[in-house]
Amino acid sequence: PKHLLDFQDWSAERLSALLDNADTMLGVLSRPVKKVPALQGLTVCTAFFENSTRTKTSFELAARRMSADVVSFAAGASSLSKGESLRDTIETLTAYKVDAYVVRHPVSGAGHLVARYSGKPVINAGDGRRAHPTQALLDAYTIRQEYGDLKGKKVAIIGDIRHSRVARSNAELLPKLGAEVVLCGPATLLPPDLAALPGVTLTTDPFDAVRGAHAVMALRLQQERMNTGYLASMQEYADTYQVNEALLNEAEDGAIVLHPGPMNRDLEISSEVADGERSRILKQVENGQAVRMSVLYHLLVGRD
Ligand code: CP
Repeated sequence: PKHLLDFQDWSAERLSALLDNADTMLGVLSRPVKKVPALQGLTVCTAFFENSTRTKTSFELAARRMSADVVSFAAGASSLSKGESLRDTIETLTAYKVDAYVVRHPVSGAGHLVARYSGKPVINAGDGRRAHPTQALLDAYTIRQEYGDLKGKKVAIIGDIRHSRVARSNAELLPKLGAEVVLCGPATLLPPDLAALPGVTLTTDPFDAVRGAHAVMALRLQQERMNTGYLASMQEYADTYQVNEALLNEAEDGAIVLHPGPMNRDLEISSEVADGERSRILKQVENGQAVRMSVLYHLLVGRD
């Protein structure tokens, strides 16, 4: 595929190849000189219309590690504030000979528009509540790193599923790679249509969700996307759904804990667990750079 907007056009084989290549990229990142010439002469534009710490930083580092030039388009400081359209903005940037776009946007499907206006490869860095494919890839990579394979693994994802592009992308990706996914949250934050995805089940009981799980992922309560009426109170949510030691005791021995970040400590995850020995949260961050190098390489150079 030319773009990575979601996983629809991506076969399990291609996705596994992306993860295999991330092993090579992690090797590059462990060297004293963390730079290879793979993308020399190419220009990557990171266009973020929504805030980010991890995704933007890691994509920019990933591109630079492979010797690409990076132009960072900050929507808030651009002429969008003067009424310029998305189309004119992207056509303007493309005239500077940008070779690929990494796009985060609050509107679902914005990456498709950028692909149409630019004619260049586009990587979705999170669009609305729809998809965040590189986050799911780095999650899959982190689980695979722990267990060697995703086949037969159970992954419990607990939190605000309704507003989560991370949950949606993981629910698409992990079963393609052989894992079973359980999505868990209060009924108001658990859209029933997700149960139609192959390999995905839903439950409102967090103890059911984690029983037998090899990985437990906590998701942030996305208060910026919530209207009123989803939760009685944050405390009540934490009392039932917080990923803490008591809940983890029901998971498989040695189960790992993931969180895509940013975290609301002691709300959806206890600090004890976030900083504890089962936590792979900073490992996810580290792996994100390697996985994004692999994705950029795949789309811009096209070989494994
Ligand atoms: N997980 C994630 O997408 O984090 P950022 O919003 O900081 O990029």
